[in-house]
Amino acid sequence: MGRREREIADALTTADLWKLMRRRVPPIVSEYFRGGADGESALRGNVRAFQQSLTTAYGAVSYDTVDMRTSVVGHDLAVPWLISPVGSIRTLYPMGDAVASRVAGDFGTVMTQSTLSGTPLEDVAAASSGACWYQLYLCGGRDTALRAIDRARKAGFTALVVTIDSAVAGLRILHTKLKPDKAMGPYRGLTVIERVAKAFRKLRLASEMLRHLPWLLRYFGDGGLMEFVNVIDQRGKPMPFTDIASQLAASAVTWADMEWIREAWGDDKPLIVKGVHCAYDARKAEELGASAVIWSNHGGRQQDRVPPVLHLVAHEMPLVGDTQLEFMMDGGIRNGTDILVALSYGLKAVGIGRVTAAGIGAGGHRGLTRAFEILRADLDRAMRLVGVSTVDEIRRRGAELRRESQLHGDGHLPPFVF
Ligand SMILES: Cc1cc2nc3c(=O)[nH]c(=O)nc-3n(C[C@H](O)[C@H](O)[C@H](O)COP(=O)(O)O)c2cc1C
Repeated sequence: MGRREREIADALTTADLWKLMRRRVPPIVSEYFRGGADGESALRGNVRAFQQSLTTAYGAVSYDTVDMRTSVVGHDLAVPWLISPVGSIRTLYPMGDAVASRVAGDFGTVMTQSTLSGTPLEDVAAASSGACWYQLYLCGGRDTALRAIDRARKAGFTALVVTIDSAVAGLRILHTKLKPDKAMGPYRGLTVIERVAKAFRKLRLASEMLRHLPWLLRYFGDGGLMEFVNVIDQRGKPMPFTDIASQLAASAVTWADMEWIREAWGDDKPLIVKGVHCAYDARKAEELGASAVIWSNHGGRQQDRVPPVLHLVAHEMPLVGDTQLEFMMDGGIRNGTDILVALSYGLKAVGIGRVTAAGIGAGGHRGLTRAFEILRADLDRAMRLVGVSTVDEIRRRGAELRRESQLHGDGHLPPFVF
């Protein structure tokens, strides 16, 4: 076993894997995965809300096994978390999205592939022994989206996730200041001064990358700068890596789009709406044919001054009222107790974004497998210590498992890592 493999095996928390990821990949890459929007209060708030939440612990109970199975939109999951859509995973590790779907399948759960992925969706579906969902942005416009929906259906994706919180890209300040787009692309059409500036940026980037040689070798072995291979224009060309923000702004999804999206996807497989902040949007999603919604603030990467997702779940979900919707959430999940607390509000499952990046970035299949092992061991331990033996029981007993905090301030909380 090499040093990295040993470090991955020794990781006890997802934060350990996050630190390994930050060491293995160059800052220009890892910062994309880390960043939140603006002052990053939503990013930190998502995590702090979990850290501040308390559980009870019923004593003198012991179980031979705990049962983590759940089901959501007709999918049986062996564990109550799934992979949230995370763009550009392929920059962390060769064929990163396919690696992620393989691990999700190994653990009996779902991989959600982002539209902003660099791996052909057919390869992602083929890599998993389980189900994959496709997350849709309308980058490139309606015809481009229709092509992707058709491919996703043919490749066997079993649910379509439409993200509604990205009318424009949030401002992730540090990553924007690194100006990755200014160092990429051809010199054609630039003034002399712009060419010199680009050459300097490329040089600086090259020296930064050379300090992460094992990552760099894999990156070039995997074809170098990725393209959005599932966002195909009418000439059959994939969207280049640089276009994200302008493409998102040019093709924001609206409720009016939901109708043709629903029609193209078909009624036989579920439609899920992601990025819901309020009961109004949840009801609207249901009206337009969604079977489930994901409460999410995009990991704090879009509108910054919004509540932590756990608070949205606590306050908004009961306001949805009489509904057939199933509920999930993502944002701030870092360990097993976080999952237990989230499920206690009645959710069917939770999503992991940055924990996926931590695992894949720390070391591909081995790294993400370790992240899943950590979550599984964590949740098993939390369930035994709280005194519940099934996910259904967590959902049913709900508030009985939680406790109000009488502590003030955050001096007692663990440090925020990611
Ligand atoms: C680097 C990164 C890229 C993301 N890309 C997408 C995306 O392409 N589509 C999407 O719907 N959500 C995207 N998200 C949001 C995640 O799906 C998820 O909502 C969020 O990461 C959950 O918060 P967490 O990172 O604290 O788990 C992205 C998140 C991160 C961190």
